[in-house]
Amino acid sequence: MAKIVGSITSTHVPALGRAIAQNLQEDPYWKPFFDGFPPVREWLREVKPDVAVVFYNDHGLNFFLDKLPTFALGAAEQYVNADEGWGIPTLPPFRGDPALSWHLINALIEKEFDLTTCQEMLVDHAFTLPLKLLWPDDQICPVRTVPVCINTVQFPLPSAARCFKLGEAVGKAIESWDEDQRVVIIGTGGLSHQLDGTRAGFTNKAFDLKFMESLVSDPKWATQYSIEDLVELTGTQGVELLMWLAARAALPGKVRKVHANYHIPISNTAAGLMVLENL
Ligand code: DHB
Ligand code: FE
Repeated sequence: MAKIVGSITSTHVPALGRAIAQNLQEDPYWKPFFDGFPPVREWLREVKPDVAVVFYNDHGLNFFLDKLPTFALGAAEQYVNADEGWGIPTLPPFRGDPALSWHLINALIEKEFDLTTCQEMLVDHAFTLPLKLLWPDDQICPVRTVPVCINTVQFPLPSAARCFKLGEAVGKAIESWDEDQRVVIIGTGGLSHQLDGTRAGFTNKAFDLKFMESLVSDPKWATQYSIEDLVELTGTQGVELLMWLAARAALPGKVRKVHANYHIPISNTAAGLMVLENL
């Protein structure tokens, strides 16, 4: 049977693509962020995942306002990165895992999650850059991938409680996959940030740290909040923390924190990074 080795949750911002391309890891602005990653790479070398299930939110590359699924799951042989207009280099295609994708799709629809299934899917910075941070030396990402996309772009958004349930269902479905494969759960987005409007530049360190801690000790804590509450507390784009919640919910049972990092700001965003493992 498949085994979930743990979860990695991380912030994504497009400016990382430029920082990576220009080798700015030691630059004083970027260093506190990049310094979070070596322990995560060390952990990955120990747990040796074969495949990554990645909760992320598309920002208008694959889905736009005309057609925007609440939950979408990729079932492609590969996922292509394309220019989003940020002026950052695109990364080579990421290998898919259609067998795991279809196993998840069947299990989730059986559990009444009415997903959009995508046999072609472009992946944006939210998917590509965290994977590049985890495996920086590999030209092609060494694990196969299954993207799980949650709408945080166009209201109404799925509630925190619903995203938690989605994560739980994904975790259970992975554990029922009859293959001897090691699966890492990844969630990318957040933490607090707001890119537009009168509160542009808003972050909330106290909330972010409480949220990160809650994922270890009280994982459903954030489900008490409505989407409107979360926007108020974390900013219009801070709701991307739903990816962290879904990723945590995919882990069965109690967890321990392997590693965490928190730093404000990178670009406009409070950057968090956390690795959790089942006890
Ligand atoms: C930024 C953050 C994001 O989550 C994103 O998708 C795009 C930009 C930023 O802080 O610049
Ligand atoms: Fe984003």
